[in-house]
Amino acid sequence: MKKVLIAGGCGFIGHKVAINFLKANYSVVIMDNWHNYNVHNLRDVEKKYQHRIKRLKGAFILQRNICNTRITKQIFKEEKPDLVVHLANFPTATLAHKQPFFGLEQIVEGTLSLLEASRSTGVQKFVYISSSMTYGDFQTPSVKEDHPQNPKELYGIFKVTCEHMVRSYTKLHNLTHSIVRPIAVYGPTGHDAFVITKFIKATKSSEVIKILGEDTKLSFTYVDDMANGIFKAATMPEGNNESFNIGSGVSSKLVDIAEFLKTLNPDVTVEVEPADPLYPKRGALNINKAKKLLGYKPEYSIEEGLKIFYDSI
Ligand SMILES: NC(=O)c1ccc[n+]([C@@H]2O[C@H](COP(=O)([O-])OP(=O)(O)OC[C@H]3O[C@@H](n4cnc5c(N)ncnc54)[C@H](O)[C@@H]3O)[C@@H](O)[C@H]2O)c1
Repeated sequence: MKKVLIAGGCGFIGHKVAINFLKANYSVVIMDNWHNYNVHNLRDVEKKYQHRIKRLKGAFILQRNICNTRITKQIFKEEKPDLVVHLANFPTATLAHKQPFFGLEQIVEGTLSLLEASRSTGVQKFVYISSSMTYGDFQTPSVKEDHPQNPKELYGIFKVTCEHMVRSYTKLHNLTHSIVRPIAVYGPTGHDAFVITKFIKATKSSEVIKILGEDTKLSFTYVDDMANGIFKAATMPEGNNESFNIGSGVSSKLVDIAEFLKTLNPDVTVEVEPADPLYPKRGALNINKAKKLLGYKPEYSIEEGLKIFYDSI
């Protein structure tokens, strides 16, 4: 039986990735320190982790910090994973802006710690979950993987640094890698600080949906589609030494999403404020490469995904 170590495997996306591996009969080890980073409401965070962990029967879960290089190496020596999927992250651009040194440690040093443990214990493949924030402002409505990576803030800069580290480290030490760039993932147990979670909660409680930027649009991706794309990039040989955009393939304006949510609760009101300059102008990720090489196909339309998320709260 093949063994996968999933760093961040109790997280929002990570637990869904872990479920895919469990279903495919992998032996699953998870390293996750259940770090809140203040992106969840404190009263909900325990409930969210319990909800996810209940679905991870059969996985061996270690509540450990990947930045501790000694413990990480020890775990790798004992567990001897064949494959590593790294989703353990400092989660938002705003936070990296506010706590840059902590962000650098958690994102860049954490990744180096996992790379070093992988190199020294015979891991065959390292899968890094990067971000669409590495592109900076999108130059075209839909961007391919070869779009210039010009991140405009620290979070994207740290993530693109990790991409370079993963490519060069795995090449130098004869490991295989895959890099996945997700965009705007939403769904049950998602971060409270994320835009769609805020919109859904405002709709549920008939409060105000606050939109930052009349023209702001993003390619919102349902969490199960994201996990499926990551699983394919990690396990299919066609994913080896390649970088993939994974998303829904289409973009939606925030104002249109708010209009849709109003059909679920007409009592909700909508306010539009200026866009946040920290966030790059984005649109859709072009997912043709993942479709062609991995057979990836998103299953959830934005309306279906929003309805499931709305009903889950
Ligand atoms: N959610 C999105 O919209 C989105 C978009 C682009 C990229 N990504 C990337 O996907 C990955 C997963 O994101 P997510 O939304 O599931 O976030 P998440 O915060 O829900 O999951 C990350 C998990 O990693 C764990 N973790 C964080 N730091 C750790 C550390 N030092 N040691 C051990 N565990 C640690 C956390 O406890 C958490 O459970 C991240 O790399 C993120 O950059 C997410």
